[in-house]
Amino acid sequence: MPHTQPLLRTALRSVILLTLSMGSAMGQRAPADASTLDAAAIAARTYARWVDSRGNILLPKEFATDWTHLGSWAVLEKDQVKDLHGVYAPKEELQYFRSNGRFPDGAVLVKEVRHARGSTHTTGQAFWAEDVAVWFVMIKDEKGRFPGNPIWGDGWGWGLFKGADPARQAATDYKKDCMGCHTPVKDKDWLYAYAYPVLGPAAIAQAPAKPAVSAAKPGAPTSGAAVFERCVSCHSLTPDKHGIGPSLAGVAGRKAGSSSGFAYSAAMKNSAVVWGRETLDRHLRDVKGFIPGNNMAYMFAAGVQQEQERAALIEYLLSK
Ligand code: HEC
Ligand code: HEC
Repeated sequence: MPHTQPLLRTALRSVILLTLSMGSAMGQRAPADASTLDAAAIAARTYARWVDSRGNILLPKEFATDWTHLGSWAVLEKDQVKDLHGVYAPKEELQYFRSNGRFPDGAVLVKEVRHARGSTHTTGQAFWAEDVAVWFVMIKDEKGRFPGNPIWGDGWGWGLFKGADPARQAATDYKKDCMGCHTPVKDKDWLYAYAYPVLGPAAIAQAPAKPAVSAAKPGAPTSGAAVFERCVSCHSLTPDKHGIGPSLAGVAGRKAGSSSGFAYSAAMKNSAVVWGRETLDRHLRDVKGFIPGNNMAYMFAAGVQQEQERAALIEYLLSK
């Protein structure tokens, strides 16, 4: 795949942006037609159809048949495509973005995550989408419509639906369920819009000069500080300066879950783990399994799989 460009994500799995052919939609401004709604009409439609008066979010099922496909992501795990992500929005929103460089109040975005399966085809190793793991929904809210509702805030409503149960919205707190992984694009309206060329030049221009999470160059000596770049969207090395994750200053010799002022999961707080060379190694190799149920597991499940990188990172952390 000549266009394969390792993009990076907080989850530290390699992510490839499939540069899809967007055909004639690229480069030309969408003409205003009867289906073009203005911003107020978009908001009115969204809040009538997909959000109830208390701020509960419904899955807009028609996305797959009636909306525009903005783009796709392939998420790799050990050279295999594990999941395929497709992102969709109503056509009017796409037109609004192409004219204004941003989404309007009431914009709805759906990301469908499907498990992928692959085998050798006449094109080479090719993967296709199978069953749905989850749907993510974001609904733009410039008015702060639902104060106190924990799935609304920072300009959006944040919804999650599991493949097996599309009728039930499953997010309970967007700060825990969503924000950690979207922190790298905090100043881009919380969106990875640069991956959707169909939105036009304003979206593409948002691509980061330096990927949010960088992979070491093959052959280059591994520096712990460079590997730590993958942690900085959530962890600082300044004492007591907590972010999405706790400060890692002085982590060596510390009992897991014991830094004051950070709200840990019960799993981490109640574990008997003391951080040192061996326990850090096990946590970073198996973020889900070493302390089951800890909150880092679903934000950064991939950990650090490459042995030299992990070793260099741990020496770096032990020195801080
Ligand atoms: C494990 C990290 C992670 C978590 C947790 C997460 N996201 Fe995302 N999300 C991403 C990344 C990275 C992308 C873009 C790349 C991709 O899909 O791999 C993305 C893309 C999206 C998109 C498509 C629009 C865009 O920004 O590109 C939507 C919609 C979305 N997420 C909604 C949510 C909602 C709602 C939640 C919480 C219920 C959530 N996400 C939780 C990492 C995450
Ligand atoms: C997307 C956010 C995120 C990223 C990226 C992340 N972590 Fe975490 N980390 C967390 C959260 C949240 C916790 C708290 C977990 C809990 O309470 O269950 C945590 C906890 C930890 C702890 C336990 C600290 C303590 O005080 O007990 C260590 C060690 C750790 N992370 C190391 C790392 C390292 C090293 C990296 C980079 C390779 C990293 N993390 C990347 C979110 C993240």
